[in-house]
Amino acid sequence: MRAEIVSMDAEHLDKEAIKKAGEILKNGGLVAFPTETVYGLGGNALDPKASMKIYAAKGRPSDNPLIVHIADIEKLKEVTTEIPEGARILAEKYWPGPLTMILPKADIVPKETTGGLDSVAVRFPSDVIAQELIKAAGGFVAAPSANTSGRPSPTMAEHVEEDLGDAIDMILDGGQVGIGLESTIVDFTEKIPVVLRPGYISLEMLQETLGEVKMDKGLLITDSSVRPKAPGMKYRHYAPEADLSIVEGETEKVIAYINSRASEVEEQGKTVGIIATDETADLYKAGVVRSIGSRAEEETIAHHLYEVLRDFDGDGVSAIFSEAFYTPKMGQAIMNRLLKAAGHKIIKVQEEQK
Ligand code: TXA
Ligand code: MG
Repeated sequence: MRAEIVSMDAEHLDKEAIKKAGEILKNGGLVAFPTETVYGLGGNALDPKASMKIYAAKGRPSDNPLIVHIADIEKLKEVTTEIPEGARILAEKYWPGPLTMILPKADIVPKETTGGLDSVAVRFPSDVIAQELIKAAGGFVAAPSANTSGRPSPTMAEHVEEDLGDAIDMILDGGQVGIGLESTIVDFTEKIPVVLRPGYISLEMLQETLGEVKMDKGLLITDSSVRPKAPGMKYRHYAPEADLSIVEGETEKVIAYINSRASEVEEQGKTVGIIATDETADLYKAGVVRSIGSRAEEETIAHHLYEVLRDFDGDGVSAIFSEAFYTPKMGQAIMNRLLKAAGHKIIKVQEEQK
């Protein structure tokens, strides 16, 4: 069966459709919905069968825990056994918003939802459609990103339909998401809070609010000797079909390097994709060039990353070269996703030419 797709926006909610979607979730079905970060694939978080269905629909390993979404800060108490001071402060400051916190799990949350762990990830999204759906579903919606496991996360309903249209009951289409990268994950099960996944809320913002906050070592070290703590961060995620390389260095050298590699690949009769910016797109002489956004507005880069990767899948290019995006605020989050998509393949041009 194909999923029913219903379009709406925050100012014009389709209350009937949300009610129906809530009933589907209460009855153990699956509904995809927009959030401010990426689209989520929702199931009732307190129903172990619904969580198993989510894993099956995504083709996701069931040891990779799901995030429990709430739409009322008071509900946090019901799914956790302990809320440290730091978590309270972050909830007050950043919820509803693109922040997920890992806390000790209460018994009502089944182990199927948490991938067998004793901790639970909780998030209160700011998207109004998401909030209304969560309320209609009884208050607790487990939702990973609504993509097939291993594909870029969906930033619009069309992406969800492409990946999961045959596997779920309903898709709430709220248009393009705002941020385009998944929420920041902060782990409160250790003495000092640890960022397990960087996002729109940066390490610096968290440190400003809480004092000491660490970055998970598994994220900083790019060889595989240290495993990231969030099980999902160890998989080669967000992967485009083509071979992706990131090229880093002085802009002019990056452009020259990509141009020469691109024409080499084209001489072999293959097509090349190039991930450029508004500032550089015109300077590439070969290949299919896509601008990801402007370096002057780094939000646009985060916003378009997954869409651009998906578009290249549709084009059937055999290699992709991307500029690096170490932008001031969201650079950590953008580069974390891009490096994973590239399997950490990074070419540093200055060094090569020495
Ligand atoms: O922005 C988001 O967070 C989106 C939207 C839909 O809310 N959701 C999302 O879910 O990105 P997902 O399943 O794609 O990513 C959840 C990440 C995974 O890397 C998972 O391993 C980690 O959170 N995670 C969940 N529960 C955890 C736990 N108890 N301990 C450590 N990591 C956990
Ligand atoms: Mg995901």
